[in-house]
Amino acid sequence: MVEYVGRQEPPHRVNRPRRRSWPAATVLGTPAAVSDERLFQHSVVSPLRYPGAKRQLVPIMELIVRANVPRPKLIVEPFCGGASMTLRLLGTGQVPHGILADFDPLVAAFWKTAAFDSEWLIEALGQESVTVDRWDWWRELTPTHRRDKALKCIFLNRTTFSGILHGRAGPIGGRSQLSAYKIDCRFGLDGLVRRIRGVADLAASGRLIDVWEADWKTSLERTKSRFPMLSSRETLVYVDPPYVDKAEWLYPWAFAARDHRKLATYLRTEAKFAWLLSYDDHQDIRDLYLPEEKFSVLHVSQRYTAAGSERRSTKDELLVTNLETIPESDTYRELSRSS
Ligand SMILES: C[S@@+](CC[C@H](N)C(=O)[O-])C[C@H]1O[C@@H](n2cnc3c(N)ncnc32)[C@H](O)[C@@H]1O
Repeated sequence: MVEYVGRQEPPHRVNRPRRRSWPAATVLGTPAAVSDERLFQHSVVSPLRYPGAKRQLVPIMELIVRANVPRPKLIVEPFCGGASMTLRLLGTGQVPHGILADFDPLVAAFWKTAAFDSEWLIEALGQESVTVDRWDWWRELTPTHRRDKALKCIFLNRTTFSGILHGRAGPIGGRSQLSAYKIDCRFGLDGLVRRIRGVADLAASGRLIDVWEADWKTSLERTKSRFPMLSSRETLVYVDPPYVDKAEWLYPWAFAARDHRKLATYLRTEAKFAWLLSYDDHQDIRDLYLPEEKFSVLHVSQRYTAAGSERRSTKDELLVTNLETIPESDTYRELSRSS
């Protein structure tokens, strides 16, 4: 049993009112404006640094969504992680309403709290001392309350190597903190507060309407049952499952070969909505999706410089979709087109 140290009481006891999520019928209305749409046009808008974040893919996927008519009324992201795609589409108004979901209780609690209980989160973040001792404390704690889960999520995400929440990764700067990059180098409070307020703004304006802690299949079935008023083209699901390689290192729940197959079967046979799927380029994934004539498969190759390195690397990814229109673009190469 870990004791609460350095505080009078567990952080969730701080009294702050919170908002409720929006009823399903909200998807039929028009949301209010956000305070600063420009915030969502930048590539870095998520408060979470996420292993496997698809930030660079977002503008490419946005181009594809914009080319299709009718424009979706609802985006659902069942493997949301850092949620960069949904934040962008809601913030720029490309899609009016969205739901985030993740199986990881810490991640789901973080989004729920950032969206609907943001002032509490901001106040609690401001009280954190960003030290290795505090990192150990959060790492050991098994929170049961949503607010504590949310705080644990953001604290560890911003102070752990590569933003990894679970498993073996240590604090940024190492335990001895001898590196030029110290544990608090990604914990700039002003920037975090601005991004959390951005998420809260999406929720307050009726754009981000709910957050679910659920397995992907539960989220997709729930979407079907809660939004019968939307046609199959009015719901867009953005699917970004764990990496094929390295997944067990990054996430506590392995997403094994059979899970990737199950997902492909579901999308092929049961999905009654528009969907867009992104993956690291891997032969197993090509084998799953390329033979399918109902889907388009695009190859995206991006050059980037890893943080703290001079070296340019290339990252190869696949986009798979049942959206009908694939616009011309030199940012991807079509491996197959739906017929
Ligand atoms: C590749 S990450 C998503 C990254 C995200 N798209 C971004 O831009 O930051 C995959 C996410 O799927 C979640 N996850 C793993 N297994 C899951 C499952 N069975 N159902 C739903 N979410 C799951 C993990 O917790 C992780 O947050």
